[in-house]
Amino acid sequence: MTTRPETHATLYVVGNINVDLIMSTLHEWPKKGTEAMLESSSLRPGGSAGNCALALSALKSPFRLVANQGNDQFSGWLAGMFPESAPLWPTCDCETSLTFGVTHPDHERTFFSNQGHIVRLSMHDVLAQIPPAAQSGDWVLLCGTWLCTALYAQYPQLLAALKQRGYQIAIDSGWPPEDWSDDLRHQAANWLPFCDALLLNEVETLGLANAETLDSAALSLLGQMAENAFCVAKCGPDGARLWAKNLTLQQNAEPVDVVDTIGAGDSFNAGFLSALIYGLPPATALQWGVRVAGCAISSSPRRYPDWQSLFGLVEKI
Ligand SMILES: Nc1ncnc2c1ncn2[C@@H]1O[C@H](COP(=O)(O)OP(=O)(O)OP(=O)(O)O)[C@@H](O)[C@H]1O
Ligand SMILES: [Mg+2]
Repeated sequence: MTTRPETHATLYVVGNINVDLIMSTLHEWPKKGTEAMLESSSLRPGGSAGNCALALSALKSPFRLVANQGNDQFSGWLAGMFPESAPLWPTCDCETSLTFGVTHPDHERTFFSNQGHIVRLSMHDVLAQIPPAAQSGDWVLLCGTWLCTALYAQYPQLLAALKQRGYQIAIDSGWPPEDWSDDLRHQAANWLPFCDALLLNEVETLGLANAETLDSAALSLLGQMAENAFCVAKCGPDGARLWAKNLTLQQNAEPVDVVDTIGAGDSFNAGFLSALIYGLPPATALQWGVRVAGCAISSSPRRYPDWQSLFGLVEKI
């Protein structure tokens, strides 16, 4: 294939973009009041929406990052990474959301985050950045659900408004910091009916459904979602699975040497939803998700597949 296929659809990614500063490797937790010298550091945009948008930008998929920003030296740096989206981001008079992380010798990581702009993103900010009427095939992805606290409080109204505008809606809520509770499940029951694709990992799927097996969890969630919805479970090294009406699919992950798993799920979302905005079927979307995530987590500096190799998967089917 020499020319890239066209689409008129766009993916709107709504949620948290922040600064990630990761330092390696902390061998022993330092004593209070001392300074620890670590070997290396890496500074990059992060957050679920940020990770997903970085992948979409590398894949050259049509997308907009729908977000807000703080008002300090980091704000311009983040905005500069997404020049097509950032002019619409409202500025809050606050610090930029920032995560500082250290990696440990066993590859575990410890993170420290401030609140910053992401807790201030509002439904009004989001709706002002998304066209009043969807083009055919447009999707909105809501991610960083539990971190965008002001926005989460408005989820039912936001989802209703997006549906009214004609968008298909995907949600990757992630794991709630205070664990799943009946109260949270009850709240989810209000937004699941608007959701056309749920993109959780295995334990999140089990936790949200409060079920024992992945099949029973996914089918019970699917039963609460929009008509013709997809329930996807990301299963780490085992790839990903998908449930839809009269359809279950499984896509193995290619074995890779993992160097950095940060944003694996967000990179999967970018691949999966890119396929959908090109009108490709769910089996291809799973392949794209797994391919993009596998490439991202096995490269340093981070790399993503080129469009020829992704559309090459379509030709093989
Ligand atoms: N060890 C691995 N080997 C190969 N592929 C992997 C591995 N870990 C993750 N992946 C790929 O990344 C995708 C998403 O990873 P995972 O299932 O861990 O999601 P997640 O827990 O939502 O990730 P995140 O922590 O980024 O939110 C998987 O579906 C798989 O395709
Ligand atoms: Mg995830």
